[in-house]
Amino acid sequence: MTEQTTIARAELGKGGPVVGIQGLGCMGMSEFYGDTDEAAARETLEAALAAGVTLFDTADVYGRGANEEFLAPFVAAHRDEITLATKFAIERSDDPAYRGVRNDRAYVRQAVEGSLRRLGVDVIDLYYMHRRDPAVPFAESVGAMAELVQEGKVRHLGLSEVTGPELREAHAVHPIAALQSEWSLFSRDVERSAVGAAAELGVAFVPYSPLGRGFLTGAFADAAAELPAEDFRRSQPRFTGENAKANAALLAPVREIAAAHGVTPAQVALAWVQQRASVHGLTVVPIPGTRKPGRLAENTAATRISLTAAELALLEPLASRVAGARYPDMTFTSDARES
Ligand SMILES: NC(=O)c1ccc[n+]([C@@H]2O[C@H](COP(=O)([O-])OP(=O)(O)OC[C@H]3O[C@@H](n4cnc5c(N)ncnc54)[C@H](OP(=O)(O)O)[C@@H]3O)[C@@H](O)[C@H]2O)c1
Repeated sequence: MTEQTTIARAELGKGGPVVGIQGLGCMGMSEFYGDTDEAAARETLEAALAAGVTLFDTADVYGRGANEEFLAPFVAAHRDEITLATKFAIERSDDPAYRGVRNDRAYVRQAVEGSLRRLGVDVIDLYYMHRRDPAVPFAESVGAMAELVQEGKVRHLGLSEVTGPELREAHAVHPIAALQSEWSLFSRDVERSAVGAAAELGVAFVPYSPLGRGFLTGAFADAAAELPAEDFRRSQPRFTGENAKANAALLAPVREIAAAHGVTPAQVALAWVQQRASVHGLTVVPIPGTRKPGRLAENTAATRISLTAAELALLEPLASRVAGARYPDMTFTSDARES
């Protein structure tokens, strides 16, 4: 039997594009997780496409535009083979910690022009609202996004970090193809309302940080001590102080299951999110981020791993035991608007 070399495909939301069932998060190629070897990152993009990955994820905010510019040559070389996703709504300033959220119509219209220019395209396949400003009604924000669809600047719409009720409200303004929110063995607040609403509406779920920003790969024994000073994760509660060591200890069952399958903890984490979604009857396309071709191969191979019911039961309590929130300021998440 010949080994299957490309991953399976699925429709990204009712009427949405057909994509490989795992995408590639490109954020770390420009910022947040330490130095990038540009040649290796470009090789990773090509390796992803060769493995059947077609959904490539960026945002205007990553590297303050640099990530979109970094992707432009790859996009130009493969425009018709890929589904290009980017996002708007987060404003930054010279203060590296500052994050503002803008959803107003004027901002949406200005943001899309910047992304189209930096990416070197005349249409974005999937345009997400990265964060919701509850002061701006969906009629205005998603209404402005719908105008972009009508004008041919955007093909499909997505949202990030919205609750189930918010997803329903937005979907009534214009069909939403995908909801991108954090979902992993360590972060399961989306299962409260967003996952159910997405399943019911036929919206695909795109879990971001499915490897817990690298924590679930088992890379850290004491992340607080091991991460370099400039790494963004040093500001994340789960990676800091006593939480770092306590959370590393939680990975024992992940390592055990990985050993039983002859795979890595990262692969178990990715298989988990894929299987957890199928419990909800949901199309799921996780977007693990990597800048290394070897890890890309490892991550895509995880789409073929099947965990047993006993293994899923062993992993079930992990999220409730994690020390520290998933963001230092949880008002930046949908969780804050429903707990
Ligand atoms: N919508 C949102 O608000 C939001 C927020 C965060 C992220 N995102 C998107 O989601 C994507 C993925 O999330 P993420 O990058 O934050 O976290 P992630 O995918 O959970 O983890 C990425 C980290 O894991 C490492 N890694 C990847 N595969 C590995 C493997 N097989 N073995 C060991 N280490 C591995 C990566 O290092 P290397 O790169 O060195 O391999 C990187 O440090 C981002 O790229 C971005 O596009 C969206």
